[in-house]
Amino acid sequence: MVNKSIYDDITFFSSYLKAQDERAAGDMNAFAIPEQYALLPIMEGLSVIDMGCGTGDFLRYAARNGAGRLVGLDSSERMIREALKRSEDYEIDYICGDFATASETEAFDLCFSSLAFHYVSDISALFNRISRLLRQDGTLIFSVEHPVASAQLARWHADEKANETWGVEGYLAEGERKSRWFGQEAIKFHRPFSSWFNALQTAGFRLTNISEPCPSQNTLDIRRKAGLASDRPAFIVFKAIKA
Ligand SMILES: C[S@@+](CC[C@H](N)C(=O)[O-])C[C@H]1O[C@@H](n2cnc3c(N)ncnc32)[C@H](O)[C@@H]1O
Repeated sequence: MVNKSIYDDITFFSSYLKAQDERAAGDMNAFAIPEQYALLPIMEGLSVIDMGCGTGDFLRYAARNGAGRLVGLDSSERMIREALKRSEDYEIDYICGDFATASETEAFDLCFSSLAFHYVSDISALFNRISRLLRQDGTLIFSVEHPVASAQLARWHADEKANETWGVEGYLAEGERKSRWFGQEAIKFHRPFSSWFNALQTAGFRLTNISEPCPSQNTLDIRRKAGLASDRPAFIVFKAIKA
């Protein structure tokens, strides 16, 4: 039984999908996608699992770039239905399940995840699980909200001259953060950089790359109020190898 996901609320899902499709059509540099894709190994023949695959964009990209077996895992039934609809011309297996409970037994070459792991409360358990899913020397690439972005929810602070600064109070206070998003309560988990690093290390991963994407000027012009700035990363991408 999969926990009810906010992504299964019809109003939330429609708003999210609309925003995602607009982003893909226009300012996707607001997100970590180009930087995350730049870290990918040569995809030819690789077996790949995408954790929190959403509508399957990455898996279709992997298929177009010659990847072999492709599996998408997501806890939202609506996301999986949409992914299947958008992937009719592709050979991709989609599984509706939670990271914590789904049981894949294959040894994958690549585990990919985009903006999903900040929903997970126990990141050590997740990395241990991914380590078991990957073959030796397999690659893990994932993006999450950057710790300086996830630390605090009331983010921009204006002084009396309306100069705005970004607050990072709460940076070391690891744990749950609740916010409103498309009319729903979204529960995410903040952790400082050291927690991400140490959990990877303890689960047997060797960190090889970190990317802190910077939005384009065009994106900044449109979306600064959404929390973007040229000198403060919104997302972080990690690449690690199963040692
Ligand atoms: C922000 S969306 C990102 C979707 C896709 N990776 C992308 O970048 O377009 C996060 C996705 O993670 C999924 N997700 C969150 N927590 C999950 C969990 N514990 N198990 C499986 N999927 C989860 C959600 O259902 C949602 O589809």
